[in-house]
Amino acid sequence: MVELARYRPERCIIVIFGASGDLTQRKLAPALYNLAREDLLPEGTVLVGYGRTPMTDEAFRNRLGESISRFSRTQPIETDVWETLAGRVFYQQGAYDEAEGYRHLHRRMEDMDGRLGTGGNRVFYLSVPPVVVVPILHNLSAAGSLARRRQCDEDSTCYLRVVFEKPFGHDLGSARSLNAEIDRLLEESQVFRMDHYLGKETVQNIGVLRFANSIFEHVWKSESVRWVRVTVAETLGMEGRGGYFDSTGILRDILQNHVLQLLTLVTMEPPASLEADAVRDEKVKVLRCLRRLEGHEVRRSVARGQYGRGTINGQQVPAYREEEGVDPHSDTETFVGLRTYIDNWRWAGVPIYLCAGKRLAEGLVEVSVEFKEVPGILFGAVHGRQLKPNRLTVRIQPNEGVSLRFASKVPGLGLELRNVEMDFPYGSAFPAASPEAYERLLLDVMGGNSALFARRDEVELAWEFASGILEAWQKEPPPDFPNYAPGTWGPIPSEQFFAEHTSYAAPSPDSP
Ligand code: BG6
Repeated sequence: MVELARYRPERCIIVIFGASGDLTQRKLAPALYNLAREDLLPEGTVLVGYGRTPMTDEAFRNRLGESISRFSRTQPIETDVWETLAGRVFYQQGAYDEAEGYRHLHRRMEDMDGRLGTGGNRVFYLSVPPVVVVPILHNLSAAGSLARRRQCDEDSTCYLRVVFEKPFGHDLGSARSLNAEIDRLLEESQVFRMDHYLGKETVQNIGVLRFANSIFEHVWKSESVRWVRVTVAETLGMEGRGGYFDSTGILRDILQNHVLQLLTLVTMEPPASLEADAVRDEKVKVLRCLRRLEGHEVRRSVARGQYGRGTINGQQVPAYREEEGVDPHSDTETFVGLRTYIDNWRWAGVPIYLCAGKRLAEGLVEVSVEFKEVPGILFGAVHGRQLKPNRLTVRIQPNEGVSLRFASKVPGLGLELRNVEMDFPYGSAFPAASPEAYERLLLDVMGGNSALFARRDEVELAWEFASGILEAWQKEPPPDFPNYAPGTWGPIPSEQFFAEHTSYAAPSPDSP
């Protein structure tokens, strides 16, 4: 919601931990390159990769160069832009849990400050599994690399920030202890908990749609809304991430973060301003009121699934349990669908449906708000029999846009009514390509704007919600996995589950 051009942060050294990982190759390096290409990356910014794999600076540069050629959203690569950036790319080999690598890193950064004018500014980007996060923080601290205050106090533009990639912890307990540890070493304003969904253009547009237009607010409440639904559906399976996913599951991987973030944006009260804490205060209030599902309620209101073997888009795909890195007897869920409520004044009694899954019928992320039916007085029994209620759908991806379903008269002498769709497609309304989420978010870190990052209480409340379900699942392992075929909309919800709201099921086949 904030103008990109506003930022002119000071140059810094960005250190990526987990530099040889997938995220660096697919997202971070291309994002930095595209920022440089758009002249938004502060000139002279230095990138240091830190990882266990032995590698020279040159080899690291080559690796990033290849990743950028492969994954950049803009093609072809502008050689002069990349070469200028590459001249400031370095690699530091080191273990995550041994002090030596961090001492080398610290000395090199101090040397770079002198030679390359980075002025003590640092962004430490932790793109690593949760178990190594605390060792990294301790070692950075022991090497003196978190001692920002001493160097920076006199210079107000000087900064040191730490980015934490998701998953942030593994459950409520681990997230709380991670937060406590972070709190000992850093100030909250230095902490950036990443949820890349918040950097997506269409996600930022949710706030604009709601608060820059006057027509929605009047109907955005339980008096008018029948239900709210957030769906994150993927056709993809594990894509080489089976080892990670098998100890995570979809509830932790997607629902606890991306889905709940989307829900808070759609249901929060108007914030007092667009300042980070004003927005986050409102999101936190939603999470506080989100009804916890625990014990027996989980059996009634939460469906979990795991895909079996089958075909998707005409291609034979393995069952989840046959994916590389996955335990052949795994009980990890690849689908979750649930119904809950937000127990506050605005949303009392409105069912909230949340759904996330892998290998589903379609890859789509969307938020839908279905409005109540009109009384069947005028067009009731005869003319309106086939009509569905109004529904507003925000398509986060793909086919980004917003559509509204409403009723219309079919042209002709009779009085036949039919649903039609009014559609705003992002792509044709705004032909300029949108920046990738990571571009916006990296720039926000350098600019010190944390509005699009999760605050400590937000993350813990989201874990509180997820943990109730996880605990109930632990007590009662699923008897029937795998229970859905690839290319479907997940396990068929039990009758009891969505009984009173059959319109839940699949998001897309439900045409106007
Ligand atoms: C990640 C999850 O956070 O988001 C992945 O770990 C998921 O499992 C991905 O595939 C989806 O992101 P996007 O931007 O492709 O929708």
